Amino acid sequence: MTSKSTQYEIGLIGLAVMGENLALNIAGKGFAIAVYNRTVDKVAHFVNSRGQGLPVGGAASMAEFTAMLTKPRKIILMVKAGQPVDDMLQALVPHLDPGDIIIDGGNSHFEDTRRRCRECKEQGFHFMGLGVSGGEEGALKGPSLMPGGEESIYKQVEPILLSIAAKVPEGVCCQYVGPDGAGHYVKIVHNGIEYGDMQLISEAYHLMRDALGLSADDLQQVFDGWNQGVLESFLIEITAGILARKDAETGKPVVDIIVDQAGQKGTGKWTIQSALDLGVPTPTITQAVFARYMSAYKKQRMEAANILTGPDRRYAGNKGEFIKAIHDALYASKICSYAQGFDLLAAAGKAYHWDLNYGDIALLWRGGCIIRARFLAKIEESFRHNCDLPNLMLAPFFRQALIAAQANWRFAVKTGKELGIPTPAFSASLDYYDSYRAALLPANLLQAQRDYFGAHTYERLDKPGVFHYDWY
Ligand code: 6PG
Repeated sequence: MTSKSTQYEIGLIGLAVMGENLALNIAGKGFAIAVYNRTVDKVAHFVNSRGQGLPVGGAASMAEFTAMLTKPRKIILMVKAGQPVDDMLQALVPHLDPGDIIIDGGNSHFEDTRRRCRECKEQGFHFMGLGVSGGEEGALKGPSLMPGGEESIYKQVEPILLSIAAKVPEGVCCQYVGPDGAGHYVKIVHNGIEYGDMQLISEAYHLMRDALGLSADDLQQVFDGWNQGVLESFLIEITAGILARKDAETGKPVVDIIVDQAGQKGTGKWTIQSALDLGVPTPTITQAVFARYMSAYKKQRMEAANILTGPDRRYAGNKGEFIKAIHDALYASKICSYAQGFDLLAAAGKAYHWDLNYGDIALLWRGGCIIRARFLAKIEESFRHNCDLPNLMLAPFFRQALIAAQANWRFAVKTGKELGIPTPAFSASLDYYDSYRAALLPANLLQAQRDYFGAHTYERLDKPGVFHYDWY
């Protein structure tokens, strides 16, 4: 119907905004792309509007779409994660030939991707799970890409992916991650870290708003300042931008008229579900997910606010010192959160036999994605220097940063507690740090309790073996 030539190097199915923008990015780099959408009207509209002047061809049917592509076909799916991906695969497969490559660019669960890799292989096709981050703008101008699947298959699409991905001084934000679900797993962990970052920033905002009574304008200046230093990142930058915006109707800061109930699509939950499955402590990310759940209890919270009492929320001490303490608490907590994310990647790598390269992963998160930040360059450096680091907190740069931030971090958390302002992710991060550095935790007592009521046995510090004490 709207095709402009017969052979296209790549195809894309799913013209919601991410799909459209990714298609435009690909076409803008000179790759001829064919597009198809379940609601076919959208195709012609896209090709004739945003696709004008670019090597974009539209198809009115799946048969027409697949006929437009050079073989082996390379097809990116940008459809909603879950059942829609399976439905689309089912519709697509009858039109494919052996050796064709299907690339799922949605936020799919990595277990689904592993299954689809197996199923496609059985049918003679190749399936890749491609983590894509950066939102609408990233998709258009340069996303962070996390490709997983067979490496030889990745190589066939690598030139396109490298050319559309974000670029930073350290390199390109697209690195082959590993087999089957590895790319989507890395995207899930990215999102868990994204949840952690957003919650930590929100806690800093909460402390400054409630304890110091700072206005949105004051806060905008604080976050702007923070974005010039070690916290420099996309999320801090947009936070300052958000705080500056005024509602056209009321003149109030937009942030002050938004209901304090967080939504979510579930990728943060997937991160902590995987952490539970793999036995990895990820308390910062977990608290970030739980904080969203707690925020959803809006009605109950409003009622409880009139029943359950707490201390006066105003901080009477030095304002500048407290702001600096909150800054340091945010930075140190962020380090803990990333340490948890990378620890989770290490456990998943072992469990699923992925040979993950943490330096590469830090690089592909350095730009384009939602968690892009200056300090990811330091994470990359740390893992390049020692790929067997047991925990990011032990890398010399981060160990020093934690030591330097420590007193202020404790002060910010303690003050939050004294004032009754919740800081679940700050606190969980500090507990993570203190637990990880504790040579002796109280689990000896816990083991004794287990042995007492269930004869679950314990090991001794002074000699090897498994023991049971006759408690009764
Ligand atoms: C990205 C984002 C993106 C998105 C998710 C999470 O990397 O571009 O992570 O995938 O924002 O949908 O959003 P929720 O907060 O709704 O879970």
